[in-house]
Amino acid sequence: MVKSQIFNYNQDGFLCWNGQDLRALSAKYDRPIYLYDLNFVKNRVQLYKKSLSTCGGTRQNIFYALKANHYSPILQIFKNEGVGIDVVSGGELELAMKEGFRPEQIIFSGVGKTAQEIKAAINAQIRQINVESSSELKRISSMTKDLNKSIEVVFRLNPDVDVKTHPYIATGFRDNKFGMNVESLPELIQIVSENELLKFKGFSIHIGSQLLELGDFAEALRKLKSIVAQASGLGLKIERLDLGGGLGIDYHSQNIQEESRLLQEYSALIKNEFGDFSGELQFEPGRWLVGHAGVLVAQVQYLKNNGFKDFVILDSGMNHLMRPTLYSAHHSIWPLKSRPTMKTYDFVGPICESGDFLAKARNCSQIQENDIVLIADVGAYGYTMSNSYNLHSLPQQSELPEFLRP
Ligand SMILES: Cc1ncc(COP(=O)(O)O)c(C=O)c1O
Repeated sequence: MVKSQIFNYNQDGFLCWNGQDLRALSAKYDRPIYLYDLNFVKNRVQLYKKSLSTCGGTRQNIFYALKANHYSPILQIFKNEGVGIDVVSGGELELAMKEGFRPEQIIFSGVGKTAQEIKAAINAQIRQINVESSSELKRISSMTKDLNKSIEVVFRLNPDVDVKTHPYIATGFRDNKFGMNVESLPELIQIVSENELLKFKGFSIHIGSQLLELGDFAEALRKLKSIVAQASGLGLKIERLDLGGGLGIDYHSQNIQEESRLLQEYSALIKNEFGDFSGELQFEPGRWLVGHAGVLVAQVQYLKNNGFKDFVILDSGMNHLMRPTLYSAHHSIWPLKSRPTMKTYDFVGPICESGDFLAKARNCSQIQENDIVLIADVGAYGYTMSNSYNLHSLPQQSELPEFLRP
């Protein structure tokens, strides 16, 4: 069995998560359910803030990427920690405001902002819009005039680095739809110079997600530095640099120490390039803050052997957790009660697709029907990507129930 820094079995063979004995989970309540460890989120965001507090700039502002997880108690932790929100749709903007984030704590990313979404952002007077194309900038410009309201804008650059992560979450290569190339700068500057309601503030990059080695990020920083120098030469005042999110987590063995080391390395790389930057630095982390803070609790409906392999059929599948199907992502699976014999299974869901699996050829302690299993590290891009395909219900969400807290 894989050694994990978050999960282990106690002497009675029951699963512990962050030291909390989960045996009472077998008590009856609605499943499948996402459970969140809020203490973990709080510790994580405090560590993130502390580690970046020395990386440069006059301030370091964090805008949590809401798309990773929008569970209200988690958002309230970020609010209490003074963290802002990075939204990518009108729906997310509405939610952030409903949760009590002030407009100046909200930034708006995303390649396809509609006129309606831009109008809502300008009317709300959010902190900034991260612009993804000159067409978008023109639309924003004309809307500021219609509404007679100004808005601050940051240009998202595509630094053209071939990021080593799953291709669907690499965003900083010329092949990707995200950001703008440096050649667009003169046109962008022209648009801004013609409308005093458009307030240019700086640049943003976000080169991809689940980054576990930072060579590509370092290259992107070097390129950004050179673009900042070029832009300053063209007379632009750069007051903000937004470095996106992207730090990865260890889905295999939950090596928290290694993740903290990676965060230190990330901070050091930034300091190296922008330690003396005279404006504000911004960050948009998602996964690193919440990924390990969630588990999906499901129940075994049937065991099935087709003469070729053993399937564990759960009441939850790609409808509740898309990541294995979409990215071949690895999530470890932990039966609530461990048994001494090990077996190899495909863990699949109820959906009418052969792509509906949560794990393939997974070695695991022997499973029985009605067993409860936990799918680990689903705090980021878990519930927010779930859907009701085949008209199955959406999963429930809860913080760790009272009876489980230490
Ligand atoms: C623009 C932007 N910022 C931040 C993030 C958060 O990334 P991560 O969860 O990898 O930190 C994303 C994720 O897709 C993104 O698209």
